[in-house]
Amino acid sequence: MSNEKKSNWDSSQLRKYNLTFTEIPRFDCDDPRTDELISQQKPVVILNSNLAASAQKWNLEYLETHMGDADYTVYLSRNHKFKYFDEKKVQKLNGDIGKGIDFMQPTKKVDMKLSEFIRRLKEWKRGDDRLYLQQGLNNTVGPEIVRDFVNFNWEFCNGKQSKHNWGPLTYNLLLIGMEGNVTPCHYDEQQNLFAQIYGYKRCILFPPSEFECLYPYPVHHPHDRQSMVDFDKPDYSKFPKFKDAKAYESVLGPGEVLYIPVYWWHHIESIMRGGHTITVNFWYKDSPNAKISYPLKDFQKVAIMRNIEKMLLDVLKDPKEVGPLLKTMVLGRFTE
Ligand code: FUM
Ligand code: FE
Repeated sequence: MSNEKKSNWDSSQLRKYNLTFTEIPRFDCDDPRTDELISQQKPVVILNSNLAASAQKWNLEYLETHMGDADYTVYLSRNHKFKYFDEKKVQKLNGDIGKGIDFMQPTKKVDMKLSEFIRRLKEWKRGDDRLYLQQGLNNTVGPEIVRDFVNFNWEFCNGKQSKHNWGPLTYNLLLIGMEGNVTPCHYDEQQNLFAQIYGYKRCILFPPSEFECLYPYPVHHPHDRQSMVDFDKPDYSKFPKFKDAKAYESVLGPGEVLYIPVYWWHHIESIMRGGHTITVNFWYKDSPNAKISYPLKDFQKVAIMRNIEKMLLDVLKDPKEVGPLLKTMVLGRFTE
């Protein structure tokens, strides 16, 4: 990577993938190119925004002292991957929709006090479950954290929200991860300002146009919005186009904010041997009253495909019938 910061991390701390990378641009928050990229729904690393400057002092000790005694959501994994699954879709598997789907939850979701989480993080040894805390910031936090939260640079993010016509802020997610943890490649249906607080995270992004190369699970599957490709060991016979996937990349350090546009794929890893990481995500709904103009954008086509899949399953009832029907419609008619 071109902007490798030798003093803080080096490329041996990044997992190895068979991908070619383009560096995500990095601009000052006042640089007009930052807003240009955001308006084009392209990723940018935003520098000096002070978005979460009031949280820059957060570390495990500070959080343990000030977060309060509520239960927090922690995921446990036997390996370094924390692949998200939709619990509501897991429940549906017990009904008709589940026919033919053999689903094993890749991680275990547990409630934990912060003190217990931090103890396990500090005492962790090879062979133990890995941990990843992912908790929405809510009103159970103590007064110091409330003050830090109130002092986030709301002017900056509210400014982005109004300038780019985003919908409401849905929530702020606090993530505390172990070094080497990976959130495998997926896309979200919201705009994300990803504020790095502590430690270094490598973010690999792909545009919505790479749908074909990343092979998302079917929409009804608990791993909806996740890529089926295992980046550690891609099965090219099943997923040949993964070879053509065009990746963007940046390693984010404390104080830096990554804009992850809605429907952009992202794979996030806490760099290896870099200590734990702390991030706060700011999620915004997409433009509530966006005008449709032609040609449609790639992300709008992804949304259309999702809706078609949902409609077909609604009427066919059996997920096994969706693929054959689509094939019948397309093969020899819309194919050369
Ligand atoms: O691990 C992560 O920081 C993931 C964040 C996200 O998917 O938005
Ligand atoms: Fe995400």
